[in-house]
Amino acid sequence: MEGEVFYPSQDAIANSYVRDWEALAESARKNLQGFWAERASELFWFKKWDKVLDDSNKPFYRWFDGGKVNIAYNCVDVHLQTFRKNKLALIWEAEDGKSERTFSYYALNREVCRMANIIKAMGIEKGDRVTIYMGRIPEIVFAMLACAKIGAIHSVIFGGFSVDALHERISDSESKLIITCDGSMQNGKLVELKRIVDESLRHCPTVENVIVVKRTGHEIPMEGGRDHWFHDLCALPIANGKCSTEVMDAEDPLFILYTSGSTGKPKAILHTHGGYMVGTYATLKYVFDVNDEDRFWCTADPGWITGHSYLVYGPFLNGATVFMFEGGPSYPYPNRWWQLIERFGITIFYTAPTAIRALMRFGEAWPNKHDLSSLRLLGSVGEPINPEAWKWFHHVIGKDRCPIMDTWWQTETGAFMITPTPVVPLKPGSGTRPFFGQEAEIVDEEGNPVPDGQEGFLLLKNPWPSMMRTIYKDPDRYIETYWKKYPGKYMTGDSARRDKDGYYWIIGRVDDVIKVSGHRLGTAEVESALITHPAVAESAAIGLPHEVKGQAIYCIVQLKPGFAPGEDLGEELRQHVAHHLGPIARPEEVSFIDKLPKTRSGKIMRRVLKARAQGLPEGDLSTLEE
Ligand code: WTA
Repeated sequence: MEGEVFYPSQDAIANSYVRDWEALAESARKNLQGFWAERASELFWFKKWDKVLDDSNKPFYRWFDGGKVNIAYNCVDVHLQTFRKNKLALIWEAEDGKSERTFSYYALNREVCRMANIIKAMGIEKGDRVTIYMGRIPEIVFAMLACAKIGAIHSVIFGGFSVDALHERISDSESKLIITCDGSMQNGKLVELKRIVDESLRHCPTVENVIVVKRTGHEIPMEGGRDHWFHDLCALPIANGKCSTEVMDAEDPLFILYTSGSTGKPKAILHTHGGYMVGTYATLKYVFDVNDEDRFWCTADPGWITGHSYLVYGPFLNGATVFMFEGGPSYPYPNRWWQLIERFGITIFYTAPTAIRALMRFGEAWPNKHDLSSLRLLGSVGEPINPEAWKWFHHVIGKDRCPIMDTWWQTETGAFMITPTPVVPLKPGSGTRPFFGQEAEIVDEEGNPVPDGQEGFLLLKNPWPSMMRTIYKDPDRYIETYWKKYPGKYMTGDSARRDKDGYYWIIGRVDDVIKVSGHRLGTAEVESALITHPAVAESAAIGLPHEVKGQAIYCIVQLKPGFAPGEDLGEELRQHVAHHLGPIARPEEVSFIDKLPKTRSGKIMRRVLKARAQGLPEGDLSTLEE
């Protein structure tokens, strides 16, 4: 094999569900539907499917059609009939370390039932949308599972988003109910989530009720008739007792999750009960080799797809013990995460390159203070991991023992698409090969495969169960965005190259999506936040390489007549974006320009701005307007 290769240990192989990767890959290649049917059979169905895959109306693929199922039933109820009833399902620790809560599967069921009873009592029925906007506390997990249990469609919005982002997503989903909390703690600072909800609800006529979980206990306004404290609702008789599980069609929607695309407003990616369940279950099982002795920690927030698939659904489907931490990696000290791994005996640790790079900077002394010997597998997701960070993670955290699963996937794919399993030889920076049943292709602009070693557009060739089904309320955009340019193949929006060994190396997005600390943001969203400021005539947001964040947002602003550029205004505009779109979208820098470079048809030439900002050649300028 070419390049630097890390081979799996005999231990990793002996423990793995899939010892013979090639054999399973081959059998899935030969019989895609058979492979997935077998995975699906390991889960509980109220009624078995009639057809594994219905591709009669491409690209609107249907999986396990005719099957009756509920993902929440498979996450919770099925475990109550086994020894797992008394096994820990969830361990949670507060940011300040002052409170710890644990839930067995039995307790998880009670919490989910209670939340579901309350949601139902708010008039929510199957198919209704519920927006969830909270910090990383156990109730966010209960809320998601409760919605699934009663067949409501959840729309979780990351707590790092702010007023405008929240408003837009609530309006688009026409949610009737919001579940939030008074506030959340981030790096010792209070984030006033409920106040942001209040502000964003000013023009959201569909919202009838807001459930507020008490987390921080600070004073907040409650609007009579609309806002309800969760603990008050829990005290009502309606909250008590079992809640029956809605029997869903496999293809019924489970959730929508807004994600940024290249242009315009964020897209509501829709996933379903059946296929998403099978996909997240099988990928987690095979890639992270989860079994009953494990304590699995995925550091992602439930507000992103990684949190949906691998903090909530995937692990519970596998009956795992999940660890969830409210805070971030380095508060109050850069050993916070390492301390937690030691304290809770985490065996599988799944995080993002940006966090690894940030923690690397504090030096080895911090992790070396802790006993990390419980770890057996590590994982990375969200952006390409640079070999330097990979090796640090492998050596300093994994003590050269723990394979790193570099998992490439997207909100749209629902589950891992290009990923190793513990028996696959690893190359730092490569996600290795497509998961069982998947094939990838790298093509040029016209769709012709490019030779190995050359960069091109990454496409996926086969349908898979956890694929998005559509963009909620916008099926045309679904076709247009993912299936139109290369008919019959799924366009990922990433560029990549494949090496001689068939390993894939992701290079990055080819559209206007920026990955800031692994968070997916769209340039269009940043620009539309800027335009609401009275001084801004027009603006362009671009992503530039950043040592820790991977990419950072830079904005170039053209001012309206009468406004003068200056440092203060730059700072004001950064804050403006943070207030409207969210602190995660705060631009690294705002600079000013007399006139933005545009094509004759009026499109901003971001490519030129990017090149200029990095001091690179500006390339072909023939389309630039006079
Ligand atoms: C990027 C996150 C390289 C990629 C799960 C993709 C990655 C986008 C990796 C999706 C990885 C994700 N290596 N790049 N292991 N994982 N990406 O929807 O550009 O937030 O298209 O899903 O993240 O971001 P999303």
